[in-house]
Amino acid sequence: MTLVLGIETSCDETAVALVADGHDVRANSVASQFDLHARFGGVVPEIASRAHVERLNPLIHETLRQAAVTLDDVDAIAVTTRPGLIGSLLIGVTAAKTLAWACDKPLIDVNHVHAHATSAGIDLDASPWPAVALVASGGHTSLYLVRDPRDISELGRTIDDAAGEAFDKVAAILRLGFPGGPIVDDRARRGDPERISFPRSMLAPGSLDFSFSGLKTAVLYHVHGSGKTSGGLERLDPQNVDDICAGFSAAVVDVLVAKTLAAVDQAGVPTVVVGGGVAANRMLRERLQRTCRDRNLTLHLTPLKYCTDNAAMIAAHGYHRFAAGHRADLSLSAQAH
Ligand code: KG4
Ligand code: ZN
Repeated sequence: MTLVLGIETSCDETAVALVADGHDVRANSVASQFDLHARFGGVVPEIASRAHVERLNPLIHETLRQAAVTLDDVDAIAVTTRPGLIGSLLIGVTAAKTLAWACDKPLIDVNHVHAHATSAGIDLDASPWPAVALVASGGHTSLYLVRDPRDISELGRTIDDAAGEAFDKVAAILRLGFPGGPIVDDRARRGDPERISFPRSMLAPGSLDFSFSGLKTAVLYHVHGSGKTSGGLERLDPQNVDDICAGFSAAVVDVLVAKTLAAVDQAGVPTVVVGGGVAANRMLRERLQRTCRDRNLTLHLTPLKYCTDNAAMIAAHGYHRFAAGHRADLSLSAQAH
């Protein structure tokens, strides 16, 4: 058995996990900073870094305690090194390097988006690879061909906003709170997805890239009036808001599903995996389940607890790199992109 300690601090969640053999999650702790950033309507990088400093060491101890192991039982330490907020990443990378040096353990660097791309494999008994992976999160929206967790090529990516960012911005336009994704998801359940038709940006024929900024602007003008960026919110009753959330969600889901199917055709691989915070979206999960069933595609949706940022996916992804002989040294650093 190979036990990997995973550390994730790329944005506003401080997370630590212990995963055996890349799929057996022994402990998965997330200290959310939601309370610290909510009143600013978005993540404040300086506050995030400071909170990681305060929370990371106690969380490592707590995670070891939960799994009833000590650092002696850990075979390798995996840490997110990119992409993310540089100050936040540096806290996790420094902690991982210090532990690796002090306890003489191998150190493994992990790309956060690649970890989202392979997170559907956690908890699965059989390997799902090769697969087309859709990653839709607050910072990224990309399609990958994952031949196996060590061999990942990008097929397409957003040229402007990420899908989760669009959810957060629409929630901000409607003054619904932060983070917006889960709130818009909830309001969309009560709305009519067909009452308002928002644009679906498909870009050039055959393109696997995404664009969500036009959709966000369409919602902005729908609420405030064409060409306006304020006012008009008071005209909306709760049902109008629910319908906007449903219409907006349907537009995002249509684009994500259409591009994923196009990627399946281009890559010639009949398996789809989906990860990232937006993979928790109810409408997206239902549509993918239906569409993949109709097309005889195998679908693995990341379990809800591993969709938003967590360290189980970092430890699991780190395990595959470790098993392939990958090692980082103490010159390891963080990279924002
Ligand atoms: O993967 P994640 O935790 O962080 C990044 O790597 O960015 O994703 C966070 C994003 C946020 O934009 C959040 O609003 C969105 O995922 N999100 C959702 C849902 N839950 C989280 N978007 C739509 N529906 C949801 N249920
Ligand atoms: Zn993420």
